Amino acid sequence: MTKPDNILFVCANARGADKRESCGTSHGSAELCKLLRDEVKARGLKPQLRVTSSGCLGHCYGGPHAVLMPADKWFSGFDADDCSSIIDAVQQTISPNSNV
Ligand code: FES
Repeated sequence: MTKPDNILFVCANARGADKRESCGTSHGSAELCKLLRDEVKARGLKPQLRVTSSGCLGHCYGGPHAVLMPADKWFSGFDADDCSSIIDAVQQTISPNSNV
């Protein structure tokens, strides 16, 4: 297995409905993570980019939240309609000379 150069961490932390806001419970981040993964796979970016769910990234409110590492580029408050443009931005960040 090849180690990816870039990882997009998508917070999937879920707290109970009686707790404070979280990406998983309030914003359905597991499904968003799947959509982002599908987009990466469809574009053939998988060797250089991995999308994975993560625990709390520490921002919580205004989610869901995702962060591209090592670039430290954050995406917040997105929904299913934004997944393609997020991967556009990620692709531009990891391959700035590509024609996205
Ligand atoms: S619950 Fe997602 S950043 Fe904290």
